[in-house]
Amino acid sequence: MGEGSTDTPQGVGHGGSEAGHVPVLLKEAIDFLAVRRGGTYIDATVGLGGHSWEIARRLGAPGHLIGFDKDPAALEIAREKLHLRGARFGPAGSEGSSEKEFPEVTLLQASFAEIGERFSSAVADGILADLGVSSLQLNDAARGFSFQAEGRLDMRMNPQEERTAEQVVNQVDEVTLANLIYEFGEERRSRRIARAIVRSRPISTTAQLAAVISAAARPMNQAERRIHPATRTFQALRIFVNHELEDLRELLQSAPQVLKPGGRLVIISFHSLEDRIVKDAMREAAKQGEYKLLTKKPVTAGEDEIDRNPRARSAKLRAAERV
Ligand SMILES: C[S@@+](CC[C@H](N)C(=O)[O-])C[C@H]1O[C@@H](n2cnc3c(N)ncnc32)[C@H](O)[C@@H]1O
Repeated sequence: MGEGSTDTPQGVGHGGSEAGHVPVLLKEAIDFLAVRRGGTYIDATVGLGGHSWEIARRLGAPGHLIGFDKDPAALEIAREKLHLRGARFGPAGSEGSSEKEFPEVTLLQASFAEIGERFSSAVADGILADLGVSSLQLNDAARGFSFQAEGRLDMRMNPQEERTAEQVVNQVDEVTLANLIYEFGEERRSRRIARAIVRSRPISTTAQLAAVISAAARPMNQAERRIHPATRTFQALRIFVNHELEDLRELLQSAPQVLKPGGRLVIISFHSLEDRIVKDAMREAAKQGEYKLLTKKPVTAGEDEIDRNPRARSAKLRAAERV
């Protein structure tokens, strides 16, 4: 279980590092959350605090922003960012009158799968989850998320997680490995890739794994030539190591219990496995009378945003309101 801390902005004056981070579908997410001044909002995936900041500045005092992230390094940056910027607010702040008071901010190093255990009653006016990995995680070669930089195969969002990608790649039997690459990567060449991995063991770095996959799995058609042959296998390992789909299902199951009537659930997903789970869960809960759906089809980024931030290309936002 992670640690929690309640932060107020006073007295903190050091800077944060968030170079290159651009929150995805920011305006759309904030619009669907319909942030109410003085309310309580949960950012289930604080990351580098991009969405959190926009929520916090609209909330004001006596509002409460509760942020979750599995990754202590991300929370550290988000904490600094929220403190540093929040310190400019407060009753004596000189910024725009509607933003003078900063809300209470509580940051928790924990999985959002735990929200049902942590909140047994309807406390939240809104929950946002911006799924997947952050630029901080992707760009740090030592975290092992990216085949574009050489690093140890780690892929854990939470460094206390028991199993690394290196352990999975080297210890899991061939059939299980093929199945997980197929299931979590939707990779049709999963058997061939699993066989090549098992034959090339031990594999300890991202570059080694990417080379083994590239040699084993030639693109089958023009569309596949556009993505790196290792993309789907890396996605599968990351999802498996961080049990991402189970966590998402838990979050979706608990959200109706945690949201107040009229409270909003907003989820941004980045691949079809996640989006399917979100779509089905929201539809099912709407059938049970728990939600009114706010998005019949997912909201996607416009060309402008995609030009500025290529990661936005695959983003899909779905939103629902607690009845
Ligand atoms: C795409 S980033 C979020 C970026 C953030 N919205 C921003 O604007 O800075 C996703 C974050 O969610 C975290 N995360 C992923 N799964 C999680 C889970 N089950 N529980 C808590 N945090 C999770 C990751 O560690 C990562 O920092």
